[in-house]
Amino acid sequence: MIAVVHSRSSRDAGLRLAHELGSTYEQADLADEIECKALIDAVISTYGRLDVLVNNAGISWPIPHDNLETVTASVWRRLLDVNLIAPWLLTSNALAALRTSTKPGGGAVINITSHAGVHPKGSSIPYAASKAALNHTTKLLAAALGPVVRVNAIAPGLVDTPMTADWTETKRFWRENAPMGRAAQPDDVADIVSALVANTYITGEVVLLDGGLNLR
Ligand SMILES: NC(=O)c1ccc[n+]([C@@H]2O[C@H](COP(=O)([O-])OP(=O)(O)OC[C@H]3O[C@@H](n4cnc5c(N)ncnc54)[C@H](OP(=O)(O)O)[C@@H]3O)[C@@H](O)[C@H]2O)c1
Repeated sequence: MIAVVHSRSSRDAGLRLAHELGSTYEQADLADEIECKALIDAVISTYGRLDVLVNNAGISWPIPHDNLETVTASVWRRLLDVNLIAPWLLTSNALAALRTSTKPGGGAVINITSHAGVHPKGSSIPYAASKAALNHTTKLLAAALGPVVRVNAIAPGLVDTPMTADWTETKRFWRENAPMGRAAQPDDVADIVSALVANTYITGEVVLLDGGLNLR
């Protein structure tokens, strides 16, 4: 499997991670259509192929759902650009290479969405709507691109990452209410990515990874 780390600003962290993975590092601002294309072009030019695309980059910050004044058109555009349009552009630019993948089961796209795109909750309404749209797009693409390319999504609940470093109340809520009694770790997400890549049949699924919170 090809691993490429991309990010907007964390160059040193990206280079370190790429080094640990024995991979290469490409930097791109995924809110920029031209940089999305350049990123895919760079991967194909380096490796000559692209078998798996994991659309993980995303942005979110808390906005109370009843605070409509804060959610300007530019807030909507920022969130949709990175959380929905970038995965679309990356998939679209990668499609020719994914279609010619010789990996067992063919090319695979995995979109990291959110439980907020499955249930009406989450850090803000535009964030939840961007992830709901990406879940639906996942299913539409799976129907359109099979059997040559599989498209699935993982919808995490709360994950311990820099994004949620100061979400103390949300972490307490998860500990007290999720049957698993904790937030997910990044490895919990990575395990499902690996499983979805290895499987050669599953497509159009949104795997809810919320430690069972939805059951309560
Ligand atoms: N953490 C959670 O509880 C949680 C829950 C559900 C879903 N998710 C989803 O999981 C994914 C990963 O989130 P995370 O928690 O790891 O967030 P994070 O710690 O904030 O990391 C987000 C990553 O996205 C990159 N990124 C953001 N904007 C970008 C842009 N315009 N161009 C290129 N890269 C960009 C960031 O790179 P830079 O640092 O260089 O900007 C960073 O590497 C996201 O899609 C998020 O919505 C997270």
